[in-house]
Amino acid sequence: MIDRSVISRIVDTAQIVEVVGEFVTLKRRGANYMACCPFHNEKTPSFSVSPAKGIYKCFGCGKAGNVVGFVMEHEQLSYIEALKYLGKKYGITVEEEEDNPEAQANRLRHEAMMSASAFAQKYYNDALWNTPMGKAVGLSYFRERGFTDAIIRSFQLGFAPDTRDAFSKAALAAGHPQDILVATGLSILKEATPEQPERLIDRFYDRVLFPIHSLSGRVIAFGGRTLRSDKALSKYLNSPESDIYSKSRSLYGLFFAKQSITRSQKCYLVEGYTDVLSLFQSGIENVVASSGTALTTDQIRFIKRFAPQVTVLYDGDEAGIKASLRGIDMLLEEGLQVKVILFPQGEDPDSFAHSHSPKELLDFLNQSEQDFISFKTNLLIKEGARDPLRRAQLINDIVHSISVIPDAITRSVYMEESARRLGIEEGILVQEVAAQRRKRIFGNYHREVLPEIEQHPQAALTPVPSFITQTYCATAEKELIYYLLKFGQRMLFTRNDPEHRDADITVAQYITAELRNDELEFQNLLYKNIFDEYSRIVQPPVPEESDLQSPDLEHQKYFINHPDIAVAEVALELLDERHPITIKHYRDAMEPEEQQLSRSVPKAVLVYKSKITGEAYQSLCAQLEKAQAAKDQAQIATLMEQIRILLRIRNTFSHELKRLTL
Ligand code: CTP
Ligand code: MN
Repeated sequence: MIDRSVISRIVDTAQIVEVVGEFVTLKRRGANYMACCPFHNEKTPSFSVSPAKGIYKCFGCGKAGNVVGFVMEHEQLSYIEALKYLGKKYGITVEEEEDNPEAQANRLRHEAMMSASAFAQKYYNDALWNTPMGKAVGLSYFRERGFTDAIIRSFQLGFAPDTRDAFSKAALAAGHPQDILVATGLSILKEATPEQPERLIDRFYDRVLFPIHSLSGRVIAFGGRTLRSDKALSKYLNSPESDIYSKSRSLYGLFFAKQSITRSQKCYLVEGYTDVLSLFQSGIENVVASSGTALTTDQIRFIKRFAPQVTVLYDGDEAGIKASLRGIDMLLEEGLQVKVILFPQGEDPDSFAHSHSPKELLDFLNQSEQDFISFKTNLLIKEGARDPLRRAQLINDIVHSISVIPDAITRSVYMEESARRLGIEEGILVQEVAAQRRKRIFGNYHREVLPEIEQHPQAALTPVPSFITQTYCATAEKELIYYLLKFGQRMLFTRNDPEHRDADITVAQYITAELRNDELEFQNLLYKNIFDEYSRIVQPPVPEESDLQSPDLEHQKYFINHPDIAVAEVALELLDERHPITIKHYRDAMEPEEQQLSRSVPKAVLVYKSKITGEAYQSLCAQLEKAQAAKDQAQIATLMEQIRILLRIRNTFSHELKRLTL
C-alpha cells in the first residue's frame, strides 16, 4: 500500500496538461486543451483536457479520468505503477511502507528473487540457442511443433539441459545467493546423505521452458515441458508459489496480450502455454492461458481491467467442458460478457492454428463463437430433457448462471431467451433467479424494520414488496450515491438528547438501512460497486468527533482518485459544484443543502423506491396481459394480487412524497 498522503500529493502536483502532453500533441482552446484522442482513431480532435479540473475526456469514445487514470490507460500500467511513474516525474518518492527495516529487507529480497529469475531466463535462453544440446533437442522440438524463431524468441522460451546442477552452479558463480535461488524454486537444496554432502540441484532439467511473466514483463516463474514420452514423468513441471509468483494471480501471456486485449476489448482464454503461442503466431494476440487450473477471481479481475468480454476456447471434449462450467459462472459473476468457442473433436487451439491458415483460423473463431448461456442451455437440453428430475436440475443450473450476472438488463434478456429454449414460463425463471439472488445476497436475513430506523419513526418509509425483483433506475440510484459521497457521514437525525447519542443516524446509515430493509440492491453495476466499497471502507463516525470536521472529505478524495477510472469519473461528476443532478425540485435555493438533508435524503430514497415500483408495475401489467392471453387463471390471480399491492404502495409513496415536500 502506498500512503494516502503521498497519493494526494502526487495527484495535487501532477499537471495533467504536462503529463498528457508527453504522449499527445495538445492545442490550447480557451481554458482547455484539445487533441486527437489517443484511445480511438479519429481525424478531428474530440479529446479534451481541462487543467482546472485536472481531468481528460474524449467526447468521441467517452474515455475520461484524472491524471493517474490517463497514465494507467495509456501506458497499460496498474494504479501503483502509474503513481510511481508520476512520482518519478515530479520528484515525489513513492515508497510502499519502506520506512521500517523489515519491509525494506523484504523489498531487497524481492528484488534479489526477480534478479535470479531474470538470470535463469537468460541462462535457459542461451542454452536453447547456443548450446549443441539445446539446439539439437530443444530448438528442434519447438520448430517441429511449428513455432517460428520469432515466436520462440519473443516469448523468451528456453531449454534446461540434462544435467542436475548446471544452472545452480552458474547462478551461484554469478553471485546469486543460495537461499534466494531456493526461494524462487529454481534450485532445490538436497539434504546430506551418508554418501553425499548437502548440495544444490536444479528444479528444471531435461525440459523445454516457458517463462511466465508478470504484468510488467518481468520473468517470475517457469513452466517446463518434458520431451520424453515416459509416463512416469509429469508432462509439465512448474515453479512453485513464491514471494514473486502467485499462481492464482497470474495468467500466462497477459503481458504480451494486454495491448491487443485493450484494443479489441476482448480476451481469448485458452488452457495451455502452446495454445497461447500458436494463436499468437497466427496473428491472434489477445489471448491468455489459465495454465490448466481453474480460473481464480484475481485472474478474472486482471482480464476485466483490460476488456469486458472473454471468449473461452474449448477443445471438443464434453467431460472437460462440463467440468469447467462452474468456472465460467465466475466470469459472469464478475460482470464479464462470456462467449465460448468449441473446437472440432480432436482439435485444440494449438493444433487447429497449425493445420489452418491465419485467415481460416480467424474465420473459424468469428463464426463459431456462441453466447455462453445459450451454449450451456443447449448442452444441458441435449443431455437430459426427458427425465423430470434431471430436467429440474438442469433448470437450476441455468438459473444459477443467470443469477450471478450483476447487470439486471442482461439478466432479463437471458431469462427471456432461456425460458423460450427450455420451454418453461418466463415468470418461473424470473422467480427462481430472484430467489437465488436474494439468498446469496442477504443470506437468511428476514425482513424486519431495522433498529436504526425504528428509533426514528418519522424517517421510516413504506417498504417495497418482496416480489419486486428486477428493475432499473440508474438516475435514482445515482442520486443516492450523491448523498452518500457528499454527505454520508453527516448526522441525518439526532434526538437532541445527549443521553441518546447512540441513536443518532448518519446519512449513510439511513440509506443503507432503508435499502437493506427492503432487500434492495443497486442494479447499475458501477453504482453498486461504489455503494459496496463505501460500506466497506467507511466506518461509522464516533459521535463526539463527528462535528469536528467533515469526515466526508477523506472519502471523497478516495473516490475521486479511485483506481477504477469509471468510479473516479462518477465521483468527480457528482462532487463537482455544478453537477447535473436530476431530482432537484425539492432543493430550496435559499437554504444550504446540508440543512435540508433530513427532508432531501428520505425523499431521494422515496423517489428511488417509487421508480422501482413504477417499473415493476409496468412489468406486472405486461405479464398480466400475457397470462390473460394464455388463460392462465392461477397466474392471473397472483398477478392481480401483486398489482393491487403495488397500487396501494404507490399511493402511500405519493403521500409520503408530499409530506416530505411540505
Ligand atoms: N499443465 C500443468 N501440469 C501438467 C499438465 C498441464 O501445469 N502436468 C498445464 C500447463 O500450463 C499446460 C496446460 O495445463 O499448458 C494445458 O495442458 P495440456 O493441454 O496437457 O498441455 P499443452 O500446453 O497443450 O501441451 P502440449 O500441447 O505440448 O501437450
Ligand atoms: Mn496441447
